[in-house]
Parts: sequence; C-alpha cells; structure tokens
Amino acid sequence: MILKGKKGIIFGALDQHSIAWKVAERCVQEGAQIVLTNAPVAMRMGEINKLAEQCNAPVIPADATSLEDLENLFRKSMEHFGGKVDFVLHSIGMSVNVRKNKAYTDLNYEWMQKTFDVSAISFHKTMQTIWKLDAINDWGSILGLSYIAAQRVFPDYSEMAESKALLESFARSFGYHLGTAKNVRVNTISQSPTMTTAGQGVKGFKEFFDYADKMSPLGNAPAEACADYCVVLFSDLTRYVTMQNLFHDGGFSTMGMNPALIQ
Ligand SMILES: NC(=O)c1ccc[n+]([C@@H]2O[C@H](COP(=O)([O-])OP(=O)(O)OC[C@H]3O[C@@H](n4cnc5c(N)ncnc54)[C@H](O)[C@@H]3O)[C@@H](O)[C@H]2O)c1
Repeated sequence: MILKGKKGIIFGALDQHSIAWKVAERCVQEGAQIVLTNAPVAMRMGEINKLAEQCNAPVIPADATSLEDLENLFRKSMEHFGGKVDFVLHSIGMSVNVRKNKAYTDLNYEWMQKTFDVSAISFHKTMQTIWKLDAINDWGSILGLSYIAAQRVFPDYSEMAESKALLESFARSFGYHLGTAKNVRVNTISQSPTMTTAGQGVKGFKEFFDYADKMSPLGNAPAEACADYCVVLFSDLTRYVTMQNLFHDGGFSTMGMNPALIQ
C-alpha cells in the first residue's frame, strides 16, 4: 500500500491494453484514489467506464489540448478529492501524419502541429494548469510516457520522435519550476514497445516489437511492469528523482548488438 492516502489523475486509459489502464489498476491496488480522464471522443470508443467502476473512480472528460477542459478537470478533481492531487500521469500520444501514412520527407505541417499539441504541448498545458490552480501538493509527482526515438532514429516513428524530444524537454524545464516552488518532481519514463492502440499504429510495429524484444537482455518491458515503475515514482520512495528521462526497456537503450539477433 505504498500509495495509501494519495490522490492522482490518470490521463489516457483507452482500453485494457493501454499503459494508463494498468497504471490505474496498480495505483488503486496500492491504496491511491484516482480520477480518470480521456478525450471525449476516445471515451466514446473506449471502455473507460469499466475501469472506472473497477477502480471506483469518476471519469472527467478532457481534451488535453484544451486549457478550458484541463482547468475544469483539475477543479472538479480537487472538489472530488476535497483537496489537491499528489500525482498525475500523462499517457497521451497520437501522430496525424503517421495515421495518414505520410512519409517523413513529405509531412503535412498542420498535422505536425496537431501531433505536437496532442503528444507534447498537452504536457506543458497540464503542468501550467496545475501551476496556476495550485492543484498539486508539495512533494507530488508528475510523469509522462516517452520513447527512445527522442534520442535515436527509428524511421517509422516519424514526427513522434520530435514529439517525444519535446515532451522530455518540458519535463526538465517545468521540473525546475515545480521543484523550486513546491518540491514537486517531474519525470518521463521511456518505455519499451508495447502492444497498445497507439503502439500498433506505427508501421511494422509487430516486427519491430520482436526485434526490440530480442535486443534487450531482459526482453521488452510489459505494460504491467511499467505500471509498477509508475507506482514507485508516485510514491514517497523516490522523492529526490526529478527532471529525468528514465529508461524502462529491459536494457535496450544500452545495447549495441545482441548475438541473439544475428542467430
Ligand atoms: N505502445 C508503445 O509502444 C509505447 C512505447 C513508449 C511510449 N508510449 C507512450 O505511452 C503513452 C500511452 O500510449 P499507449 O501505448 O498506452 O496507447 P493508447 O492508445 O492506449 O493510449 C494513448 C491515449 O492517448 C489519448 N489521447 C489522444 N488524444 C488525446 C487528447 N487530445 N486528449 C486526451 N487524450 C488523448 C487516447 O485517447 C489514448 O487513451 C503515449 O504517450 C505513448 O506514446 C507507448
């Protein structure tokens, strides 16, 4: 029960494969109270109400690119909890150019802006809303989910690579402000390829998933293990970890070559 008494908001649970879904389940198992949120359109497609029932959590819709929706989400969550939150998970990603199969050498820039807004700027907007409403307790914890394409080239990941670089940079820069003002930590977890709706949207995902699995000495980290890591980072056991991009990838990021792949 390492999250006993803690209150958190979890963005991005679409269905049972979502990383955020597993995080929500683990947080509640560890004693946290949570509010679930997702974009209104995703809530119609998804199964979030099942999760809400299971976690005894309200669902407050919010398009994470809308400051108005975010303000409403944090105000209503604080009303529900009777106080500020202790942790927030940003588990949101979507690329319009990837969805529409646009080559990296022929990107549509309006779509690119939408991609950045949804996948990265929404993280800044969330933290700015928290800042303005003073919505998080001292020693709170904010997490975003990233991918190693922020540092290395994975051609099919396209403009999501730049989205993740931006996301990780926002974690560092806002981590300074929230850390100085309130001892709040901000980190990103760089997760292995995971079989989710967003993951499978990337071309050749299955082949790449298998490649990463073989390259990593421990194999790809599953969503359930990512949820365990999130719980630790929301807990008081990691109070001085901040402004970091933390690889949760079975060792993939440190490997150069693995003989298992050549065989
Ligand atoms: N699946 C992978 O291989 C993998 C690897 C590393 C990092 N990640 C990251 O993990 C996070 C979660 O993705 P996932 O793999 O669980 O997939 P997912 O498809 O289950 O989750 C993505 C979520 O983003 C939400 N979303 C999209 N637009 C939104 C908006 N405007 N406002 C609010 N929410 C919005 C979707 O509704 C969905 O719930 C993403 O940041 C993703 O980039 C995924």
